[in-house]
Amino acid sequence: MAETPLILSLFPGIDLLGRAFEANGFCVVRGPDVITGGDIRDFAPPTGCFDGIIGGPPCQDFSRLNRNPGTYSHEMTSEFCRVVQTSAVDWFLYENVVTAPSFQVEGYQQQCFAIDLAWFSPYSRRRNIVFGSKHGKMLNPIIRTKAEIAGTCITGSDERSFAACCEIQGLPADFDLPFFSLAGKKQAIANGVPMQLGSYIAGLISSTIYGRGTPKQTYNQRLCNCGCGRPVAGKARYAHASCRKRAQRARNADMRQISTNIVANNSRTHNNYMP
Ligand SMILES: C[S@@+](CC[C@H](N)C(=O)[O-])C[C@H]1O[C@@H](n2cnc3c(N)ncnc32)[C@H](O)[C@@H]1O
Ligand SMILES: [Zn+2]
Repeated sequence: MAETPLILSLFPGIDLLGRAFEANGFCVVRGPDVITGGDIRDFAPPTGCFDGIIGGPPCQDFSRLNRNPGTYSHEMTSEFCRVVQTSAVDWFLYENVVTAPSFQVEGYQQQCFAIDLAWFSPYSRRRNIVFGSKHGKMLNPIIRTKAEIAGTCITGSDERSFAACCEIQGLPADFDLPFFSLAGKKQAIANGVPMQLGSYIAGLISSTIYGRGTPKQTYNQRLCNCGCGRPVAGKARYAHASCRKRAQRARNADMRQISTNIVANNSRTHNNYMP
């Protein structure tokens, strides 16, 4: 069996992104985070130890909604670049809001692409991805458009239940953070990369960089009852009104088949009957 790639997750928080990589066969080591009393500015990583680095630095100063942006998010992106260079990893994956400024890590060939949760679920959350490779091997990501969007992704002050927020983020229904307050739990998962996006990217790196087979779905997502494969959320059982009709037609056809079988069986029973 191929060796398990060892990766370092920066700015992990509760590390939904790292969990998605673990589910796709990577061994993830977590760097410091202020929520556990650490600070990346004090972090001196070893050189030549890790295969890759993943992470999404804080984005508040890059957000269009922030009327008073500071320089902290820029500083944290520079810290991300410093750790990549010191570690001399083969590749890195940087995740942020679509308005995040571009940067260049010396010695790496880079590509930048956007990805939307709406390509995998009924909710939208657009993220910007920068993938850097020391040896120049690039990814070939999907580009989709989607019209049917049920709502936006979750926020830290989300009014939906914690279970509903977990479902939107692709987490299992029984996911819990026992030492957090309810508000803290919502904030922590809202900060995270939805599992649908993380799993897609982890699978893409797994197949492109490590030549592993086509990834399977490694996140929690209910699919439409009609069998079309489209994702559903909340109380919905079908992705579209046409799916409900398709499922009804299939049930009607089944009922017709059952009645035909009963008639056929009855006639066989009568034919075999010897008084
Ligand atoms: C967008 S969140 C990362 C979420 C994570 N990628 C996930 O998928 O769950 C950014 C994280 O950076 C952390 N952070 C902010 N300043 C930091 C610093 N100076 N050193 C280390 N971590 C920091 C925050 O506490 C937060 O958890
Ligand atoms: Zn369907």
